[in-house]
Amino acid sequence: MGRIIIFTGKGGVGKTSVAAAHAVCSASRGRKTLLVSTDMAHNLADLFGIDAGRQTRQVTDHLDILEMDPDWMMQNEYPGLRSALARLVGDRGTISRESDEYFLLPGFENLFSLLKIRSLYLSGEYDRIMVDCAPTGETLSLLKLPELLTWYMEKFFPVGKFMVRILSPVSKYRYKVTLPDRKTMDDIGDLHRQLVLLQRLLQDPEVCTVRLVSLPEKMVVEETKRNYMYLNLYGYQVDRVFINRVLPEATGNDFMDHWREIQKPYIRELESVFSTVPISRIPWYPREIRGLDAVEKLCGDVCSSPDIFNLPAPAHREVYEKTPGGYRLMIPIPGADQSEIRVEKYGLDLDITMGNHLRRIPLPASLSKARIAGTSADKEMLSILFSLPAPPESEMNEESAREEKIREREAKADKRKERIRRFKKANSRGLKEEKESVPDKAEPPAAGSGKDGPES
Ligand SMILES: Nc1ncnc2c1ncn2[C@@H]1O[C@H](COP(=O)(O)OP(=O)(O)OP(=O)(O)O)[C@@H](O)[C@H]1O
Ligand SMILES: [Mg+2]
Repeated sequence: MGRIIIFTGKGGVGKTSVAAAHAVCSASRGRKTLLVSTDMAHNLADLFGIDAGRQTRQVTDHLDILEMDPDWMMQNEYPGLRSALARLVGDRGTISRESDEYFLLPGFENLFSLLKIRSLYLSGEYDRIMVDCAPTGETLSLLKLPELLTWYMEKFFPVGKFMVRILSPVSKYRYKVTLPDRKTMDDIGDLHRQLVLLQRLLQDPEVCTVRLVSLPEKMVVEETKRNYMYLNLYGYQVDRVFINRVLPEATGNDFMDHWREIQKPYIRELESVFSTVPISRIPWYPREIRGLDAVEKLCGDVCSSPDIFNLPAPAHREVYEKTPGGYRLMIPIPGADQSEIRVEKYGLDLDITMGNHLRRIPLPASLSKARIAGTSADKEMLSILFSLPAPPESEMNEESAREEKIREREAKADKRKERIRRFKKANSRGLKEEKESVPDKAEPPAAGSGKDGPES
């Protein structure tokens, strides 16, 4: 099975360099590898000193690179899905309904980069796909797109549920939208299906994981922690953190030694925050990383760990636990601050808001009537307690009537057993008396023939 590894982090921390080192290292071990960039400010071609293009370019025997152009891909490779998306979000990225609500979806065209990554993965052409991303904010927006769009489509278009020709007449009344023609609706249905599959792929830790690149500097450390929290919120598995540009011990240069002392507490902080995630340190090189030779040199530090391409240990994602009055939902969001979290329930949607980030989690139908009884967040986990309403009185009455009937039936059966016991006892006493009075001739009465025999 192939692998997808996504590299993200603050601007300029070394994402492209680290992703490239992974790709070169993987290819040098004989695995067909693709290094793909979703950052519009591409620099893969510059890094390897080759011409860029819209198609994949070969760098070495087993290594190709691809600089994604989502606009071009949308027009040329996914024209059907493009029109479906345009029907949904319009030209300005606004999902509109025939109500007053509007929803802006900036950068929605980037979705086509993810769809393309999925189709490259499915083609089976590559053993490993390394994804070099834009800085944190844009990458988070990109990674939450599939789930967000799927939610909106399910909410406002009856996709994947019914056939459009049956629904068209009722859609306007029921869903407050006028459904497009059948062809567009088929494309919307197709887009919805692809989005669902895309989410499943990207959130499957056996296929796709995320690696964070950080620096031992205050601002970068803070952003790395937040990034980690949000990635967990969206259900992505982070399986390694790189601390880049670590200064070596005793450089003999006061200025450098001073900076090394500044770096130390940040390295310690990263190591304590990411105590459950493998961490690799990358030294600060005396020159910039450019060209295949330089990337190969970086491989020694980036990929020195023997398990660098191994799958991470399986981690539990959303877990439900039965409680006396309902359920507890546990979501691993390390480092979440309770005061920053807002959790609300709308029907079968659970909205978790942290800062500017919102995640909508679909709840199981059994929680439709539940209400949120409390939330708590510790170092690793966000817990949401749901309480279920007590069953209505009519149901209680039905239930107690059922119990009463059972009790009556059992009492009747006990009575019957008692009568049989008494009858047998009486019979054996009678027999004994008869035997005693007429020892040789007496015949016992046939069971059930007497007046007091058990009811049939
Ligand atoms: N360990 C290192 N030692 C020295 N220079 C480095 C190191 N890591 C990266 N660089 C240099 O830092 C610069 C930024 O690196 P890179 O382009 O990989 O970062 P990035 O996170 O992809 O940046 P952007 O956010 O702009 O895409 C490059 O010039 C690169 O050569
Ligand atoms: Mg880059």
